[in-house]
Amino acid sequence: MINLIVSGACGQMGRTILRLAAEQPEAFCVLGGVDPSGLAESEGVAVVADIFDAPRNADIVIDFSRPAALPKILQYCQNTGARLVVGTTGLTEQDQRLLEHACAVVPIFQSGNMALGVNLQIELLKKASAALGDAFDVEITEKHHNRKVDAPSGTALMLANAISSQYPQGRQYVFGRHSMDCRRTKTEIGFHSIRGGTVVGEHKVEFFGKDEVVSIDHKAYSKQVFATGALRAAKFIMNKQPGIYNMHDLVTEREVLSHLYTDDGQAVITISSLPRQVGVLSLVFETIAKHSVFVDMISMAAQCGSVSFSLPREQLATALNALNELRPKFEGLDIHALDNTTKLTVEGPGMALRHGVAGQLFTVLSEAGVGLELITTSETKISCCIKNSDVSTALDAISKHFEL
Ligand SMILES: NC(=O)c1ccc[n+]([C@@H]2O[C@H](COP(=O)([O-])OP(=O)(O)OC[C@H]3O[C@@H](n4cnc5c(N)ncnc54)[C@H](O)[C@@H]3O)[C@@H](O)[C@H]2O)c1
Repeated sequence: MINLIVSGACGQMGRTILRLAAEQPEAFCVLGGVDPSGLAESEGVAVVADIFDAPRNADIVIDFSRPAALPKILQYCQNTGARLVVGTTGLTEQDQRLLEHACAVVPIFQSGNMALGVNLQIELLKKASAALGDAFDVEITEKHHNRKVDAPSGTALMLANAISSQYPQGRQYVFGRHSMDCRRTKTEIGFHSIRGGTVVGEHKVEFFGKDEVVSIDHKAYSKQVFATGALRAAKFIMNKQPGIYNMHDLVTEREVLSHLYTDDGQAVITISSLPRQVGVLSLVFETIAKHSVFVDMISMAAQCGSVSFSLPREQLATALNALNELRPKFEGLDIHALDNTTKLTVEGPGMALRHGVAGQLFTVLSEAGVGLELITTSETKISCCIKNSDVSTALDAISKHFEL
């Protein structure tokens, strides 16, 4: 259960976050809201004007308010040990420096756009910029409702920063072209802000080339997409060390483990006391291959002179008979078989980008009392053989820990 304080509680985003948090009572408990609007309550939650009057036992402050709120919020977090999710846009360089200073002690999640789709747009823009290069002129048009106070939007700046990062010299930002009596340069990104009605948020990035235009757009149809992202960010930041995190970190962590599956009917053979001489392993596996045994995972501890491998359970007897042929050649050979195992595999593209996944997985399994008989890994996959009787415990523990 995460104890929340919502700053900007009476605003559009604040109210949406309060509503969504109330729909997840098992995950969130809202302790209160902060908003100087004069209202004493928002979505059934008590609101105070000053964060220093809010309950001091919050795990996380979620802020969607105004940049002026930031110094007090950071002070509150430093005083109480609360973590911070910042969605407020229009922060100045000085505000950004405050965040960078505070993140030495406070875990902070900051994103000018908490929608997952915008994160994808950013990745597509990086690819498009790298592919299209200097031959295309880049212009960003953003549209928002008539109550938005900052321009350009924080998201437009995030998109431009992603594009600029693809050029060694970066890009210059030009905000509107009123009164500019000169041609655009090749190295600029133009920003255009439109405000009106109830538009939630639209960002269109156009790459203008000779006789062709490439456009990469995102449209948000409700504030809910941002609120959902903010609550995801709150869960993400709960177990993080001090530092600044963003949507990219959240998305890659979510994809660290995306698939979990099992393959039962496996057996594991371990051969120990193998002599440390060249050609021993080829002799072992050639011998079983001659009997048409399919070997799957192989793991070896050369220093200990032992090798383990998995195979279909129905081929265990054949493999053991074949290995007995080796006994006269290697004195004291120790062959151990386990015939009631299941291969459990976890997979995810984000594993290649993140360290510590194997450590987390083995901790989860050992805390659940699950022993490992054999392990193999690749860049994006970890497979282990476990006893059949441990399978449901292992699946529960992994699914819960990695939110699969
Ligand atoms: N990161 C994102 O995904 C995302 C999405 C939408 C909006 N935003 C940003 O979030 C902020 C709020 O957006 P909104 O649409 O809810 O605006 P809003 O105007 O509806 O609400 C802002 C609220 O903040 C309150 N406020 C003003 N000063 C405050 C202070 N010092 N402490 C606490 N509350 C204070 C106001 O009284 C108001 O109720 C804006 O900066 C907006 O650009 C970010």
